[in-house]
Amino acid sequence: MNGTDTTLLDIRDRFPCLEQQVHGKRLAYLDSAATALKPACVIDAVTQHYTQESANIHRGVHHLSEKATASFEAARETVRAHLNAAHTHEIIFTSGTTDSINLVAQAFGQLEIGKGDEILITEMEHHSNIVPWQLLRERSGAVLRVAPISDDGDVDREAFRASLNERTKLVAFTAVSNALGTVNPVAEMAAEAHAAGASVLVDAAQGVPVQPMDVQALDCDFLAFSGHKVFGPTGIGVLYGKEGLLEAMPPVKGGGDMILSVTFEKTTYNALPYTFEAGTAHIAGAIGLGRALEFVSELGYAAIETHEAAILADAFEALQAIEGVRLVGTPSRRKGIISFLVDEIHPHDLGTILDQEGVAIRAGHHCAQPVMAHFGVPATARASFSLYNNHDDIDQLVAAIQKAQEIFG
Ligand SMILES: Cc1ncc(COP(=O)(O)O)c(C=O)c1O
Repeated sequence: MNGTDTTLLDIRDRFPCLEQQVHGKRLAYLDSAATALKPACVIDAVTQHYTQESANIHRGVHHLSEKATASFEAARETVRAHLNAAHTHEIIFTSGTTDSINLVAQAFGQLEIGKGDEILITEMEHHSNIVPWQLLRERSGAVLRVAPISDDGDVDREAFRASLNERTKLVAFTAVSNALGTVNPVAEMAAEAHAAGASVLVDAAQGVPVQPMDVQALDCDFLAFSGHKVFGPTGIGVLYGKEGLLEAMPPVKGGGDMILSVTFEKTTYNALPYTFEAGTAHIAGAIGLGRALEFVSELGYAAIETHEAAILADAFEALQAIEGVRLVGTPSRRKGIISFLVDEIHPHDLGTILDQEGVAIRAGHHCAQPVMAHFGVPATARASFSLYNNHDDIDQLVAAIQKAQEIFG
């Protein structure tokens, strides 16, 4: 583990999934941007919930329900502390980033967005931060503007600033690009959006796993992320929203838990955060997510960032040294995600051959077709790195790419 922090030395042992072989080979898991592997402590927390306190929350008077409710609400407080939100009720549990962004598109959309109002996104967004705004555009007659990216894969900041005007109601952009690895200057972009009078949503799906996302320091109005990308379970995610905005927004899903009283004539709604949490929550997921964020805090972002930077540098050097490998995007600041092409080999074919060598990468458009269109390619191969990757993974990746080149002649 060249150049890595000693805190992470035994880290692979904590991820049971890495104990297996794939097609008889050591597993080099290079697809953490799609979903991160889960450490044993998270799996144990979920198991503990189902074995010791499996019950519904908030409504039961019995022992198990009280225990489950306490664990669920403790997880919410862990999320609050992790994001440094001012209030625990600013943390809404959702099913993931996609769900969180759709919630804002619906509720904030109803509150603030009318015909001719503008929403600004960037060209590097994941489909989850494009399509909800297109749906809102169809409902409301709003205008969707897109700030372009440069050929390096950075947001064109001049164009971004020029797109802001008095009609801009919301600016929604990613903290880290899932297709290119670009790290956006979130606080600066948020300040520019606020100066134009717009609210700001940060898609932190790729941000929370790799860097501190302090919502007060960044001064964002909304922040969305998914549990599964930050070592937590699938099916759970978070929407952070500033209290004032959340209080003003109408609920968009009706059902249990989000009400105070119901008659056929009139329903009154529960207080935050429950207004936006209709129905039985993913209780085990929230508890697992809380444990995952504790795990990140125990290691510390400083150690994670140092380790990932070292792995990224290794991978960069190794890939550039292979003749026929073309990197897609060379942003000024990036996290551990590299998109690339090898000779004329289709990324799907490459991914299949790499899989036979025990190397898991992603091949496709990465739910970012506009990014692919920008670079004039239908798809790329993508290697993404996490704290459990090491130099052996990079060696295995390089050898597997060379094997693919041999096969394709
Ligand atoms: C930047 C970004 N935004 C949003 C999403 C959507 O996340 P989810 O599918 O967990 O809702 C992803 C997932 O890849 C992503 O990378």
